[in-house]
Amino acid sequence: MILITGANGHLGTQTIDFLLDKNPDANITGLVRSEEKGAELKEKGVEIRIGDYTDYASIEKALQGIDTLLLISSSTLEGRTKQHKNVIEAAKKTGVNQIFYTSIVQADKELSPLSPDHAETEKHIKESGIAYTLYRNAFYMEFLPLFLGNALESGEWAFPSNGNAINLALRSEMAEALANGLADPEKHRNSIYEITSGKAYTLEEIADMLSEASGTEISYNDVSVSEFQNTLEEIGLPEEQIAMSVMTATTFVNGALDFTFDDLEKLLGRKPTGLDAFIKNFADQ
Ligand SMILES: NC(=O)c1ccc[n+]([C@@H]2O[C@H](COP(=O)([O-])OP(=O)(O)OC[C@H]3O[C@@H](n4cnc5c(N)ncnc54)[C@H](OP(=O)(O)O)[C@@H]3O)[C@@H](O)[C@H]2O)c1
Repeated sequence: MILITGANGHLGTQTIDFLLDKNPDANITGLVRSEEKGAELKEKGVEIRIGDYTDYASIEKALQGIDTLLLISSSTLEGRTKQHKNVIEAAKKTGVNQIFYTSIVQADKELSPLSPDHAETEKHIKESGIAYTLYRNAFYMEFLPLFLGNALESGEWAFPSNGNAINLALRSEMAEALANGLADPEKHRNSIYEITSGKAYTLEEIADMLSEASGTEISYNDVSVSEFQNTLEEIGLPEEQIAMSVMTATTFVNGALDFTFDDLEKLLGRKPTGLDAFIKNFADQ
């Protein structure tokens, strides 16, 4: 039996939908933090178990009888590695046979401020002796509008990148690739996949593609991280939002997303959607 954590989140829900599309009778269990959060999944025929990464006992109970686990990384950054460690320890105790985990592209290079949590989690998984399948995900293409802020209206896009390119991939295609892996876990034992689309683009190139697709000139300004942070503070954004934006900017500046691999293409059995196609579609809406 497969258990998917973060089952009510975006990636978890989409992965479950792809699995059900492949096999409507699939034996899928979803981990959620309350009955309420599992209501929609229950309607789809998914068994719901309740647990919180911060509560070891709840996870150990939820993992009873589970053979394959998809651990979707926690969205709460505080104490994230400890949360993941709880799940890995419970998986070992309950005899889980294989863990799939959603990491970050090139986690072991630790180029992004988000990488150390993932690198440490990957290490715990490997040390547990449980078979692993690591999906090292690029950033979601669906997040491009968040990175753009009001650039489409103002015609000016100020975001740090130090001239580095970024590779973004569709979250929905990551979910499809996860479902393809989970449908045949044996084939993916002890594998590491770098999940990117087929091409990384500089922010200058992204601004050009947006200008062409929208018919409005958007000029890109490669500001420093401190300049960017000052601007966000002047606007008066909430602290948490500023921290997340600065982490994203540092990720770009460190070249942490300037990588392209063909693992996603292989897992999907087709070329992943490129940022060029995504931008054309996005500008049409
Ligand atoms: N690659 C990227 O660009 C990118 C961007 C953002 C996030 N991420 C990472 O990828 C993960 C999946 O993305 P997503 O879009 O599906 O995020 P999401 O929609 O925010 O879903 C996160 C899921 O994790 C669950 N969760 C959070 N803390 C938990 C805890 N302590 N115990 C049990 N479950 C917990 C949430 O449950 P609740 O609904 O109860 O909170 C939710 O189901 C995120 O959690 C984050 O680690 C990646």
